[in-house]
Amino acid sequence: MSKKLYIETLGCAMNVRDSEHIIGELTTKENFTLTDDIKDADLIIINTCSVREKPVHKLFSEIGHFNKVKKKDAKIGVCGCTASHLGEEIIKKAPYVSFVLGARNVSKIGEVIHKEKSVEIDLNYDESTYAFSDFRSSLYKAYVNISIGCDKKCTFCIVPKTRGEEISIPPDLIIKEVKRAVENGAKEIILLGQNVNNYGRRFSSFDKKINFTQLLRMVSEVDGVERIRFTSPHPLHMDDEFLEEFAKNPKICKSMHMPLQSGSSKVLKDMKRGYTKEWFLDRAFKLREMIPDVHISTDIIVGFPGESEKDFEDTLDVVKKVKFEQIFSFKYSPRPLTPAKDFKNQVSNEVASERLTRLQNLHFEILDEISKKEKGRVYKVLFDELKLGGLVSGRSDNNWIVKTKGSEELLGKFADVKITKSGRLSLEGEVIKVYE
Ligand code: 5AD
Ligand code: SF4
Repeated sequence: MSKKLYIETLGCAMNVRDSEHIIGELTTKENFTLTDDIKDADLIIINTCSVREKPVHKLFSEIGHFNKVKKKDAKIGVCGCTASHLGEEIIKKAPYVSFVLGARNVSKIGEVIHKEKSVEIDLNYDESTYAFSDFRSSLYKAYVNISIGCDKKCTFCIVPKTRGEEISIPPDLIIKEVKRAVENGAKEIILLGQNVNNYGRRFSSFDKKINFTQLLRMVSEVDGVERIRFTSPHPLHMDDEFLEEFAKNPKICKSMHMPLQSGSSKVLKDMKRGYTKEWFLDRAFKLREMIPDVHISTDIIVGFPGESEKDFEDTLDVVKKVKFEQIFSFKYSPRPLTPAKDFKNQVSNEVASERLTRLQNLHFEILDEISKKEKGRVYKVLFDELKLGGLVSGRSDNNWIVKTKGSEELLGKFADVKITKSGRLSLEGEVIKVYE
């Protein structure tokens, strides 16, 4: 009889893919099947995020709950970024946890489940050439890792301490993975890395120089790949060659994530982001100029130590000028093992909250302006999800969520949709042509 695995995933796309790797390994090599009933599980895994403080606090109440409701002999494992930086502390605080597996040690999942109280959090561990067993939660979209770790030293960010140094995955392995995904029905490939456009700086076992732009071309030449997305690129490495490939390669979706973090050159310097307000604006304007329909999304932190009212106004200024289609905005959260937590002039929670509200209100105004122009437009959508109320949902090339009336027949298909209703976060429309 197979054993049952319950897995909860927090955090970013990287973690989503790590969980798929864990599921792949355990279902193909260890006789597990997935369950969404925690009471029925023989193994409960939580794949954690530590980028901000809140989810870390929640971790202990969450695993405490798992421990109360689980079957008598069921094991609990903590994986991911919080596992990396808290390590043994997790088992000390929650002795019912059976193993701790860091975000850079995912390939050891088959070992740790057989040991009691094992802690695998080696930050130098190199799994850049490990071939994970296949598992994907989406039939139509496939995440493909292109690198592990992060070499940047952003002063607010804990990730280099949870995922270690950056190593690129050799291109032949990436292409093999892309081909395998396409053979299994994927139409859209999402390339994943902490800093994708820094690809090719360091390999552990490959000596030809190849950069991200070249990798994009190689992936786009694979038969059956219809769309390519990637996350996350870094504004510093957005050179002309990369932006031009992005603009002219028809398979690359015209949606760019440009994590701004702050619009103030002074704050950017304190964050060690490596670019200025002017560089960021120049890159964003170049994109808008080359691709009229491009969507630009961003991440912004408010209340970074030392951020003055004037610095914050620079952030608002960039938001007004770039008119981002999507903003993920956060209050600065001091993280262990990062330089910024010791900076003087920490901004009060009150001021940070007030700035976050102003930023979000400005963004709502921009979204209202953008969405007004969408009615009547036609987008090619790849449908991939059934929604309540007889709706099917998918994404346009430039990443709008588009819904329409329909059912399973539309799943996995591209269709032209004429927009009839527009909101801040999604559009609705009528299918005018289905591509077979
Ligand atoms: N505080 C708040 N937000 C953070 N992020 C990363 N570290 C922190 C932090 N210490 C945000 C950044 C990053 C996104 C994934 O999370 O905006 O791009
Ligand atoms: Fe992803 Fe960063 Fe959270 Fe780790 S800490 S899961 S890399 S967002």
